[in-house]
Amino acid sequence: MSTQALFEPLKVGPYTLSHRVVMAPLTRMRATKPGNHANAMNAEYYAQRATRGGLIIAEASQVLQGGAPGPGTPGIHTPEQVAGWKLVVDAIHAKGGLVFLQLWHVGRLSNAAQQPDGGPAIGASAIAAPGTRVVRGENVPYETPRALRLDEIPGIIEAYAQAARNAKAAGFDGIEIHAANGYLLEQFMQSRSNQRTDAYGGSIENRARLVLEVTAACAQVWGSDRVGIRLSPFGVANGSGEDDPMPLYSHVIGALNRMGLAYLHLIEPRASGAGQREVDHQGVPSAAELFRPAWNGVLIAAGNFKPDTATAMVEKGDADAIAFGRYFISNPDLPERIRVGAPFTPYNRPTFYTSGPEGYLDYPAMSA
Ligand SMILES: Cc1cc2nc3c(=O)[nH]c(=O)nc-3n(C[C@H](O)[C@H](O)[C@H](O)COP(=O)(O)O)c2cc1C
Repeated sequence: MSTQALFEPLKVGPYTLSHRVVMAPLTRMRATKPGNHANAMNAEYYAQRATRGGLIIAEASQVLQGGAPGPGTPGIHTPEQVAGWKLVVDAIHAKGGLVFLQLWHVGRLSNAAQQPDGGPAIGASAIAAPGTRVVRGENVPYETPRALRLDEIPGIIEAYAQAARNAKAAGFDGIEIHAANGYLLEQFMQSRSNQRTDAYGGSIENRARLVLEVTAACAQVWGSDRVGIRLSPFGVANGSGEDDPMPLYSHVIGALNRMGLAYLHLIEPRASGAGQREVDHQGVPSAAELFRPAWNGVLIAAGNFKPDTATAMVEKGDADAIAFGRYFISNPDLPERIRVGAPFTPYNRPTFYTSGPEGYLDYPAMSA
């Protein structure tokens, strides 16, 4: 099988990628604690996965301390965090790679212990996420957030803009806004988690307002052609899910399309929740196929791809590039393996979110 379609150059904003095998954003919980800043070990991990002209989307990074899910995920809101990320960026650039930083705020998926004031986490409404989170090995229900006040919304938008400035100071090539997988921006978009009655709730236009305002604020900082966005229409991760996704996402993607962004990054619903467990949701539509006609720019698809399905999707034109998550964890030289048709090393899920180099730095490249 030829995977040649994945090795054609691709223009993304002002950059030209040398291939279309993108590293998906992957939370690994290995930032330095306390401080939640990236470190030399993180730089080595990313450098192992960098390729000349290849795009890495660095893992979700909180724009505020209160937007973290727990200790160990990196932030991008303190000088120490900017310095930590600079180590990573410099290591990727030294290998000729490109790197965008994913900006997140987890909203109601955070908890009181992460909040500077010790109060509840924020959400679109005071509705707890369904399900449980793991605290010191035990499953505990999600805490009920407090609804973000209308007068606090400009501060949240500014936090994203400041994080965007900080990412620029760290030397990143661009940023990706995390508006997927049940986190704050998706909590505002979706009706089950947003029951507000102000300008940010109710109609689709109102629920989409925050994500569009955040995107516009980030585009002010970077220029829209260096800002990407990640969405998971039809996704069910972290207690998310819109009953009728097409009208909502048609509106959101239509509005984003007019902004001239670097790319739209869609997670295929069959892989929704892959961060927590092995999934292959059946009978779900292809997000990339459905929304391709509504998107004029670069489209990146992610979710359960293998070399053959990735190639087929790019050949068909439903996506321009394919992001790989789990196999990029266990195959630092994944693009080269795909190019030569080499087998993949299987990943070890128990070490996805542990600390230290095991399951992080020790996956060998082919020649090793
Ligand atoms: C360990 C792990 C961490 C993840 N962290 C993030 C993240 O920080 N941001 C994000 O948007 N998606 C995250 N995801 C989802 C992946 O980016 C990707 O969409 C998903 O794994 C499906 O792709 P795959 O089948 O190639 O692994 C994570 C997934 C895994 C397995």
